[in-house]
Amino acid sequence: MSEALRDKAAALFAERFGEAAEGTVFAPGRVNLIGEHVDYNDGLVLPMPVREGTAIAWSRTEGGDIEAVAADFGEEDRFDAATPARPESVGWTSYVRGMVAEAGIPAGGLRIVITGDLPRGSGLSSSASLCIATGRALAAAAGTDADPVALAKAAQRTEHGWAGVACGIMDQMAVAAGQPGHAMLLDCRDLSYTLVPVPEGWSVAVADSGVTRGLVDGEYNARRAQCENAARALGVESLRDATMEALDAANLPHLEAMRAAHVISEIARTAAAADALRSGDLERFGSLLAEGHISLRDQFEVSVPAVDALVERLQEAIGVQGGARMTGAGFGGSVVTVMARDALERVTAEMGETLRQAF
Ligand code: GLA
Repeated sequence: MSEALRDKAAALFAERFGEAAEGTVFAPGRVNLIGEHVDYNDGLVLPMPVREGTAIAWSRTEGGDIEAVAADFGEEDRFDAATPARPESVGWTSYVRGMVAEAGIPAGGLRIVITGDLPRGSGLSSSASLCIATGRALAAAAGTDADPVALAKAAQRTEHGWAGVACGIMDQMAVAAGQPGHAMLLDCRDLSYTLVPVPEGWSVAVADSGVTRGLVDGEYNARRAQCENAARALGVESLRDATMEALDAANLPHLEAMRAAHVISEIARTAAAADALRSGDLERFGSLLAEGHISLRDQFEVSVPAVDALVERLQEAIGVQGGARMTGAGFGGSVVTVMARDALERVTAEMGETLRQAF
């Protein structure tokens, strides 16, 4: 929970620096309900924040250095706030230094202590959470309001330029501008969004497959390139503008055709899911999740057997009032479930493993 985590960051700050922090900030992780691998195709996505996230305790200091402590790793970094250099290998410091460089918020000397409770590699956007928390700490220390869209864009530039992942903008927007208890229907083409409240009687919960994502970045960037090739072959700026009819008529290479079919159908499913959410149609929402998973597994080829098995068991336990699918980039990570609130206890007991509840 964000309050407890902020208190923890403050306590760790006092312990490390022997004085109280001036302030604390928090940024959540996110879970994507549906709209997977479509953000970098200008598509529609439907993520929401989760309870867990990243907290940072901060204080201003004399001089121009930023001293950053990653309390959970027992690691520290120190760099000139005016000229952060790229670390030799990608790690937590890449995100902190990247945000200092990209956010355009004059920071000056700063001490920050970072702690988080998002499982890393579980597809809940721990890196976007770290980036946005860093941006919020910089803004708080500078005494300015952080514009959520500007922070999200800075965080995306950080992923691209400092971590080498050609990600879309979904995670950063969901983390920076999402609201607890609301799904964000985000149009990734122009970043316009509406916050749709999750109906009272629904429960959104996340199950960790236990498979940590490996070799994701290369696979991820390859999928993105395949989508861009497909769009080029179809003569459209992005797959957002492609149709199934045009795809059927186009005779694309097999791989590109499969990737495009996923993207085109997933964008339509996301729009339909947002309607189902608004009208409280849990059964429809659940069947869209099931279709989405099959498409990610068979056409986009980003699932793994352990995740497929977990999705199947969860779908069986949930029944028709709701559903389950892989969430995030894939290759392991988490499964998102949506079900009636009064089914959660029974399903949790049947699964014999912890379902992490979203907001
Ligand atoms: C990762 C990326 C996002 C998005 C998802 C897949 O989380 O960071 O931009 O592409 O994968 O939907």
